[in-house]
Amino acid sequence: MPITTCVFDAYGTLFDVNAAAAQAATEPTHHALAPVWPAIARDWRLKQLQYTWLRAVAGRHCDFWQVTQDGLDWAMEANELTDAATRVRLLELYWELAAYAEVPAMLTALKARGMATAILSNGSPDMLQGAVKSAGIGALLDAVLSVEDVGVFKPHARVYDLVGGHFGCATDQVLFVSSNGWDAAGAAGYGFRTAWVNRASEPMDRLYAKPHHVLTDLTTIPELI
Ligand code: LAC
Repeated sequence: MPITTCVFDAYGTLFDVNAAAAQAATEPTHHALAPVWPAIARDWRLKQLQYTWLRAVAGRHCDFWQVTQDGLDWAMEANELTDAATRVRLLELYWELAAYAEVPAMLTALKARGMATAILSNGSPDMLQGAVKSAGIGALLDAVLSVEDVGVFKPHARVYDLVGGHFGCATDQVLFVSSNGWDAAGAAGYGFRTAWVNRASEPMDRLYAKPHHVLTDLTTIPELI
């Protein structure tokens, strides 16, 4: 069946999750971040994701804002950062992450082709609303779908079910795009067409399914339709 619906992961895919640590490290008040911000960004993201998987497996859901704070606390302790004001600033910046440069033109091209467009994210609705607003892409999205509607994190099938539930489309009418290899694999295993945006040139995850396309950024997404 032809693709009718393009669905995007949010953090790392449309929004640059490293931008918070990179930005705070340039601010004089948070000078202690300067030498360690890449490690903070990496550990923060890794722990944030690990906590989502562990909570999903254990059936102990909490919202993404909680795991975002928990992941940062682990990362700050691991890198011996203790400044409470830096913690506050990093968390504040997470609500206004920049979108990758190619995002507005790519979404505009999809809308011009008559595609339905959406975000499907672990993010809580208020976090997603903040990021979409600060990136100025709200008018280019038909829906912003959050795992909070099903109370479990990706890659649980109930999360991917939200797309068909909202748009009434079949799984093979959906192109799901994620920069997280495990999310692209999870969505491919679910039955979506998938594109993995491998910005960091990582090896492919060894999981139960493989993404259909591997890209270096989002520019060529409209060509996949
Ligand atoms: C999300 C995380 C996985 O936006 O990046 O769902």
